[in-house]
Amino acid sequence: MVIPADLAPERIQARLRSHVIGRPLRMLGDVASTNDCVMAAGRDGAREGLAIIADRQTAGRGRLGRPWASPAGVGLYTSILLRPTLPASQAPLLTLVAALSVSEAIESIAGISPRLKWPNDLLIDGKKVAGILTETASMDGRLSYVVVGIGINVRHDAQDLSVDLRATATSLRLATGREVSRDELAAEIYNRLDWWYGEFSARSLENILARGRERSATLGSSVDVLTGDERWSGLAVDLDSDGALLVRDGRGELRRVVAADVSIRMRT
Ligand code: BTN
Repeated sequence: MVIPADLAPERIQARLRSHVIGRPLRMLGDVASTNDCVMAAGRDGAREGLAIIADRQTAGRGRLGRPWASPAGVGLYTSILLRPTLPASQAPLLTLVAALSVSEAIESIAGISPRLKWPNDLLIDGKKVAGILTETASMDGRLSYVVVGIGINVRHDAQDLSVDLRATATSLRLATGREVSRDELAAEIYNRLDWWYGEFSARSLENILARGRERSATLGSSVDVLTGDERWSGLAVDLDSDGALLVRDGRGELRRVVAADVSIRMRT
């Protein structure tokens, strides 16, 4: 396996200040999907904190079954195994925990602060730079483990993004003009996730929600919501205690949005 110069496992390890996340860490060249690898490891009893990072994915996926383009040399693709003891109803908050961690890590390494688009996107100037895919496994109705997958466009030039994505997606290189090394960014993500997951485990959920509100691109915006085959619009006003989005619809009713496709309306 040839590991690119900016993705050296020993450089990630040297920067790790985490207690749980990234311990152990496995680096792979090519995989179908790091989420699949960590789901399988979870099934086999791997310990909480295991992180798998790959240079390329051949079947990277996003939310709602969408593909996540994962070419070699340019993106950061990593998944982490968690074994939370909180009830399954709180699992969606882990997407927020991960998004906050990634946003802070990008700010610290690339000097730019992505906003969070509910529930799982990170945006720079309205364009998507990263996404989170949280998957869960349950046994006898109880949450058994959770896999948090993180994909970031790091070193992409415009031609590394597919033509249909160029209007809506960006990379850290395109947005900042800076060269960001993927190993430094990965270590910072594991460190931040270690801290925020500690907050989650200590049930400091108000802290997580407060930071999520602060960094949100969605709150205060007009949004279009697609739930099943119902499409409606409203004003995104808050996050509920479990991370659901609260949207005031055209009739003034406050509606909880849990699993939906939400798009932010451009201001005219
Ligand atoms: C989304 O925007 O819908 C989520 C994208 C998540 C992509 C990451 S890349 C690492 C991990 N492995 C996958 O197959 N998906 C996630």
